[in-house]
This record gives sequence, structure tokens and C-alpha cells, in this order.
Amino acid sequence: MAQTHFGYQTVDESEKARRVRGVFDSVASKYDIMNDVLSMGMHRAWKAYTVAVANVQPGQQVLDIAGGTGDLALAFARRAGKVGRVVLTDINEAMLRTGRDRLLDHGLVLPTAACDAERLPFASASFDLVSVAFGLRNMTHKDTALAEMNRVLKPGGRLLVLEFSTPVAALRKPYDWYSFKFMPLMGKLIAGDEQSYRYLAESIRMHPDQAALKALMQAAGFAHVDVHNLAAGIVALHVGIKC
Ligand SMILES: C[S@@+](CC[C@H](N)C(=O)[O-])C[C@H]1O[C@@H](n2cnc3c(N)ncnc32)[C@H](O)[C@@H]1O
Repeated sequence: MAQTHFGYQTVDESEKARRVRGVFDSVASKYDIMNDVLSMGMHRAWKAYTVAVANVQPGQQVLDIAGGTGDLALAFARRAGKVGRVVLTDINEAMLRTGRDRLLDHGLVLPTAACDAERLPFASASFDLVSVAFGLRNMTHKDTALAEMNRVLKPGGRLLVLEFSTPVAALRKPYDWYSFKFMPLMGKLIAGDEQSYRYLAESIRMHPDQAALKALMQAAGFAHVDVHNLAAGIVALHVGIKC
């Protein structure tokens, strides 16, 4: 059995998906509040920037992968309008259920599918835009997932990957303290779950940096990839075009 990383641990590939599911089953009900606390609200600005870059037009077909509680899907749906279509997907039913409830609270009913990004149940060349926010680092085979995202995009379509990345050197020490001390402590106090937030910090460190992710996207078929660093590289938005 091939091995992979779950945070800093080495586990069988089949074990990783099960453990990632455990993390998001555990955090689903507290996910939104924890996002606000841990990012000090900044995740809203990162997502707003992503939505601005996406520039979704009325009538477009959009797929949000690992969409969780639906922040991006909600913003995209408002722009795609009634003639467009935004599909919210995630591998985790607890996260998806929370997202669907939130969308309903905003008066929106979107097509929703529980699916693995590595095996997307959509026809080739069917979307104008695909997004994945803070989801890619949890996937076992990132190359397979990126190739699937490429497959379902129309030629000329864009993939937006918003993900934690590698900050500038001056930030690394305080960022390490924040990640390995503050985040697990907040996880324990607010969500009663220190372990999941330790995994969050570790999974961020194990994720490819800006240049490595760009290379992965190019290998998956995105001929042109732009990298936008946000918060001094703590987060990066990669925009790939399927040519
Ligand atoms: C940190 S949450 C991000 C949720 C949302 N996109 C956001 O930005 O708030 C990561 C999500 O990735 C999902 N995920 C993990 N592995 C996945 C996979 N292989 N396919 C699809 N979704 C996956 C998790 O279930 C979880 O909902």
C-alpha cells in the first residue's frame, strides 16, 4: 500500500481520506466561527479577493470543489444569476449539510453533490470556472484532483485554487508560534478539539509552496498559471487557465 502524509504523520493512502473525514466531521458545526477566530476575519477578505478575480458573469457554469460551508458558492451564485449554475460539492456530508443549510438561510437552493475531487461526477468541458478554497491540501492525490479539475473545465476556463502557502521569511517564526500554539489552543477552547487544529497547522506546512503548486498545476494541463500572494504569502491564490 502506498503511503502519504496526514499532517506530519506518514499513513497509508487509504487511511488519509478516512482521517481527513474525521477532522471535518468533528469541526463541521464550529467551522465558520473557527474560521473567523483563527484568521481574525481575514478569510473573508481572501475569499472576497478570489470572488473579484473570478469575475463570474451571469449565465456561467461554476463548480466549487471542497466547498464546505459554501462561502464561495454563495458569492458566485449571486453573480451567475438565475440563468447560470453554481454547483457546491464536498467529500464530507457534514460540511455539505452545514453549507446547504446556510445557503437556504440566504434563500438559495444550489445543486449540491457529495463527491471526491479525485473522481468528479461531471462531464468533461462542462464548467467555465472551477474553484477550490482551502481544500486541495487535504486531498491524497493532488495531481489526480487537479487533472480532474482540468478535465471538467471548458477550454479557456479557469481554475482558482485558494490555499495556505509559504509566507515571507520574516513572518515564519511568529507564524509558527501562532500555528502550533495558538491554533490548537483555540481549537481546544472553542471547538473542544485540539487535534484537528494541530492537523490544520501541520497540513499547511506539508502543502506545496507557491512555485511547487504552480508546477503541479502546469503538469495537470494548465498552460498559464498566475500566483497572487495574499497576507505576505500566508495564503496564495493560484489561477490556472485551461488552454
Ligand atoms: C478547510 S475546508 C474548506 C471549506 C471551504 N472551501 C472554505 O473555504 O471555507 C476543506 C474542505 O475540503 C474537503 N475535502 C477534503 N478532501 C476532499 C476531497 N478529496 N474531495 C473533496 N473535498 C474534500 C473537506 O471535507 C472540507 O470541507
